[in-house]
Amino acid sequence: MSQGLSPLLTLNSGQSIPQLGLGVYKLGNDVAADLLHAAFEAGYRRIDTAAFYGNEQAVGVAIRASSLPREEIFVTTKIWNEDHGLARAAEAIDESLARLELDYLDMVMIHWPKPHLNLFVETWQALEKAVASGKVLGIGVSNFQPTHLKQIIDSSGTVPAINQVELNPGFQQAELRKFNSGLGIATEAWSPIARGVFNENPIIAELAKKHSKSPSQIIIRWHLDIGNLVIPKTATKSRLHENISVFDFKLDQEDLAAISTLETGIRTGLNPDEF
Ligand SMILES: NC(=O)c1ccc[n+]([C@@H]2O[C@H](COP(=O)([O-])OP(=O)(O)OC[C@H]3O[C@@H](n4cnc5c(N)ncnc54)[C@H](OP(=O)(O)O)[C@@H]3O)[C@@H](O)[C@H]2O)c1
Repeated sequence: MSQGLSPLLTLNSGQSIPQLGLGVYKLGNDVAADLLHAAFEAGYRRIDTAAFYGNEQAVGVAIRASSLPREEIFVTTKIWNEDHGLARAAEAIDESLARLELDYLDMVMIHWPKPHLNLFVETWQALEKAVASGKVLGIGVSNFQPTHLKQIIDSSGTVPAINQVELNPGFQQAELRKFNSGLGIATEAWSPIARGVFNENPIIAELAKKHSKSPSQIIIRWHLDIGNLVIPKTATKSRLHENISVFDFKLDQEDLAAISTLETGIRTGLNPDEF
C-alpha cells in the first residue's frame, strides 16, 4: 500500500489502511468516475462503498481507469441487510466482486447487525470463508454494539478488524470506542462531519479561526487525533482537497477538551439494536 496523503494504520488483520478515506454514500454513478479520478489525484487511497449505495460498478470503473496499481487502493464494501445468512452472504460477496470487477476486496463488512433476524453470526462465517478463499483480505462490521461483537467473537474466535459506526462531535461513542480498542478493533467514523451540522457551531468556529482551517477540517483532524479511521464523503472536488488537507496541524489538549463538550448523546442515524 503506497502512502497517498494519509498516514497508514495497521489493523488486527495485519493490513495497512489509510486513516483517512473517502465515503461514497449517495455519490451518483454519473459523477463517480470523475470524482474518484480527482480523489486519487488529491491523494485519497481508500474508498468506502457498499452494495446498498448502488455505485460499486462506477467505483470499479474508476479504480480500473486510474493509473494506480490495485494494491495501492484500499476498497471496502458491505453486505446489505437482505443478504444475511451463510449462503446468501457468500453470494452477495461474489456479486459485489462482479459489480466492482475486482479480483479481491480489501475489506468486507456486515452493514448492520439486524439482531431480530438472528443471522449475523452466520453472515460472519460467510465473511471468514471469503478470507480463507482469498476473495477478501480483511473483514469487519458496521453498526455493531458490544453485545453483537461478543456474539460473533465467541462463536468464531475471529475479531473484526474494524467496527464502522456513527461518530461525530455530537455523538462521540466514548464507551464503544473503548470497547473496540480493548479488543483490538479499529473504530471507523461514519457521517464523521455530521453532514455539515457543525459548520456554524461557535466552538468549532473558534478552533477553525485558531488553526486557520475550515470547520470540516477541524472535525476531521479531531477524528485523526483521537485515533479513528475516518471517511468523510463529498461529491465536490474542492472539498476533496479541503477534507484531506489536515496533515499540517494537530489539535492540542485544550482543543480536544472543547470538542468533548459538544457531546449530546443523540444519534442522527438509526439505532442498531432496533433497526
Ligand atoms: N455504515 C453505515 O451504516 C454508514 C452510514 C452512513 C454513512 N456511511 C459511510 O460514511 C461516509 C460518510 O458519511 P456521510 O456521507 O453520511 O456524511 P459526512 O461525510 O459526515 O457528510 C457528507 C456531507 O457533508 C458535505 N461536505 C463534505 N465535505 C464538506 C466540507 N468540507 N464542507 C462542507 N460540507 C461538506 C457533503 O456535501 P457534498 O457531497 O455536496 O460536497 C455531504 O452532504 C458515507 O459516504 C459512507 O461511506 C456508512
